[in-house]
Amino acid sequence: MLTIALSKGRILDDTLPLLEQAGIIPTENIEKSRKLIITTTRDDVRLLIVRATDVPTYVELGAADLGVAGKDVLLEYGGQGLYEPLDLQIAKCKLMTAGPVDTPEPSGRLRVATKFVNVAKRYYAEQGRQVDIIKLYGSMELAPLVGLADKIIDVVDTGNTLRANGLEPQELIAHISSRLIVNRASMKMKHADIQTLINTLSAAVDARH
Ligand code: ATP
Ligand code: PRP
Repeated sequence: MLTIALSKGRILDDTLPLLEQAGIIPTENIEKSRKLIITTTRDDVRLLIVRATDVPTYVELGAADLGVAGKDVLLEYGGQGLYEPLDLQIAKCKLMTAGPVDTPEPSGRLRVATKFVNVAKRYYAEQGRQVDIIKLYGSMELAPLVGLADKIIDVVDTGNTLRANGLEPQELIAHISSRLIVNRASMKMKHADIQTLINTLSAAVDARH
């Protein structure tokens, strides 16, 4: 049995067509279902539906053999416990700093709101800048508008969310796309099955581009 951890939303939407190339089709409509373990048209493959930020945890600890996670989530999660054999080239965006349009930086310590606390710490440490990081779980764009922070670090795609809130993208931290991740022990114990799946997904990704 291969167990694959996925999150609802854009990762699920973009991953299902790729899995279909490997004959893996959910046996029910995942977006509508309340079930968290989903069987597929392949008896040897099941899907786990988890929060996007929880995918690396399920895979590293072996509750799932494979998963699909955004590179932003993987950068934040850190650790050496996962293989990352394939860039699925889906859910593309950029991890960026952003702040109010045409506003100079404060003279004192910069306050940065983000859910990517580890990424933010590393980024500013590399620059030798001392900052105060404020952990948020969503709606980061609000923080500079109400004086909670000077800047945010978040993913940006079209830039519409920033613009709608009077913010502008500033420094690029990383180009982001979603990656297939694999548990280290599974890679050894189920090597043939996992390698076949990786090859099929890789061909499906190439065919899309
Ligand atoms: P959670 O449900 O745990 O809060 P989330 O809201 O970040 O997570 P999604 O919005 O489904 O989950 O995003 C999944 C992944 O898609 C992110 O980790 C990121 O890599 C990518 N992503 C996020 N926002 C965008 C976007 N606007 N355009 C393209 N890709 C995005
Ligand atoms: C993501 C992210 C930004 C937005 C960026 O939110 O948190 O707010 O997309 O995309 P844009 O540059 O195209 O506006 P999402 O739409 O996934 O909602 P979420 O906050 O519920 O994850």
